[in-house]
Amino acid sequence: MIIKRFDRQEELDQYAAHLITNIVREKEQPVLGLATGSTPVGIYKAIIEEASRTRLSFGHVTTYNLDEYVGLAPNHEQSYSYYMNEHLFRHLDFQPGKTHLPDGLAADPEAECKRYDEMLANHPLDVQLLGVGHNGHIGFNEPDAELHGGTHVVRLKEETRTANARFFDRAEEVPEFAFTMGVGSILKSKMIILVARGADKADIIKKALQGPITTACPASLLQTHANVIVLLDAEAGRELSEDGTRIQMVHS
Ligand code: GLP
Repeated sequence: MIIKRFDRQEELDQYAAHLITNIVREKEQPVLGLATGSTPVGIYKAIIEEASRTRLSFGHVTTYNLDEYVGLAPNHEQSYSYYMNEHLFRHLDFQPGKTHLPDGLAADPEAECKRYDEMLANHPLDVQLLGVGHNGHIGFNEPDAELHGGTHVVRLKEETRTANARFFDRAEEVPEFAFTMGVGSILKSKMIILVARGADKADIIKKALQGPITTACPASLLQTHANVIVLLDAEAGRELSEDGTRIQMVHS
C-alpha cells in the first residue's frame, strides 16, 4: 500500500487524474470503476482538463460505478447516474452504452444485481476509484458482521443517510436502500485508488489503514489488496503513524 499525502487539493486531484488517464492511454479496452460523493468531484474536473488539453479520447473506455440509490430514476438530480453525467460523462466522448450504473428503478432488484455482476465478471476492472464513508463504508458496503462479495441491495445506515442528506432538499428524501457493488468485486480490481479529504475523515482513515482488518470497517479490507494507492490531504492523513512497515509515506 502506498500512501501519498498532499498539501494542495489541486495536486491530489491532478495526481489521481493522471493515474486514471494513464490507464486510458495505455490499455486497448480500459475498464474504470468509478465513485460518487464529494471526494471525487475535483478528480473528475482534473480528468476533463487533462483529457481536453491532451486530446485524449474516452470512446474506448468502459465504466462501472460502485452504487446507485434504489428508487431514483437516472434523471433524478440526486441519482448517481445524474451525478456522473454532470461531473464527467457529458464533458468527454464517453460512449453511452459503455458507462454502467445499477438501475435504481429495476423492477427485479435481484436480477439487476446478477446482471451487474455478470457484466463485471466479463470486464475486470483495471482501476477502482474509492472514497470512504465516516463509518468506513466503501461504495455502500456498510459495517456489518458479514459483508457481501457481489452486487446487492443494502439498507443504508442512519448515519450514512444523515451524511448524504446534504445533497437532498429534505433529509427524509434520502432513499433507504441502495444497490452497491460488493467488497469482493472491489477487491478484484487490479488497482485501487482510495481518496479522502478533510479532518472529519482522519479517524476512519487511521482505522481503515492502520487498524485491524474487520468487517466492522469495510475499508480496512483494502489492507489485503496488493495494489492500493491512498491519496490524502494533510487533514485526512493527520492521525496516521509513519512507522508502519506496510506503508510508504510520501509528502508532496
Ligand atoms: C457515499 C458513497 C460512497 C462515498 C462516501 C463518501 O455515501 N456511496 O461511494 O465514498 O459516501 O462520500 P463523500 O466523498 O461525499 O464524503
